[in-house]
Amino acid sequence: MTDISAKIAGVELENCVFNAAGPKDVTLEELEAIAKSASSAITMKSCTLDPRTGNAEPRYYDLPEGSINSMGLPNLGYREYVNFTSVLKQHGKPVVASVSGLKLEDNVEIVSAFNDSEADLIELNLSCPNIAGKPQVCYDFEQSDEVLKQVVRVCKKPIGVKLSPYFDFVHFEQMAEILQKHRIAFATCINSIGNALVIDPEKESVVIKPKGGFGGLGGKYVKYTALANVNKFHELLPEIPIIGCGGVYTGTDVFEFILAGASAVQAGSVFMQQGPDSESVYAKERLRKIGRFHGEIKDV
Ligand code: DHB
Repeated sequence: MTDISAKIAGVELENCVFNAAGPKDVTLEELEAIAKSASSAITMKSCTLDPRTGNAEPRYYDLPEGSINSMGLPNLGYREYVNFTSVLKQHGKPVVASVSGLKLEDNVEIVSAFNDSEADLIELNLSCPNIAGKPQVCYDFEQSDEVLKQVVRVCKKPIGVKLSPYFDFVHFEQMAEILQKHRIAFATCINSIGNALVIDPEKESVVIKPKGGFGGLGGKYVKYTALANVNKFHELLPEIPIIGCGGVYTGTDVFEFILAGASAVQAGSVFMQQGPDSESVYAKERLRKIGRFHGEIKDV
């Protein structure tokens, strides 16, 4: 059998594809569905200090090739997710905690709590675009440096970051330097492209309610930006595993991310649209190519 396994910060994944934080991963019931699916790990919804109901609805909208959302971090509060880890671990898969505190002290408290949980990896979300008045932390390099300094200091588990896309070589370099400085265990590239605007010409209106219709764009629209981010961070930080995310719908997409330099791949929009059993993502013929691939992408 072809080996399509992956290893992130010492944590073994049976195959290299698992769910991205966000879609259908808020409740224990949803997380157990992921546990029973082909997803090789169970990533939980980004959590805050206290429970949140999230933004006003409609706050998610399917697009022909992806989605736009402004969920606003609806979640049960970190204490529930700390408790869920022991239940989820019984399924025999790694559990990934996604931490998205609204301020630095929250992140320190939440990460400290996950130290005493059965989470295998912690993904610090520095890239949520949907909280009014709270900029995406990873676009502020000084703040990112400070957050990572404080959080890494208390964290006893392998901790990585989830990043927004960058569009400028200087910004890739600045963030890479910060990740290296704090010995970050992995980086997930990319979160949705923040603050896109979808307009329905028939209704002459925006399609989601929060923030005047602005929300994070995901799916096929973002795949090439995601591949570029994976490739650039892999080039700048060859020692740090990069998890690809953005527009993964098929085994071919997965393979493209591996070619770009990803160590593993997360599926987001497709999980929202087709559920955690989205067969196409695990399309065997393409995943098998991953097992035979041991190199770098070629120049034309
Ligand atoms: C939400 C969206 C994100 O892109 C993210 O990283 C975290 C939370 C949200 O709106 O719930």
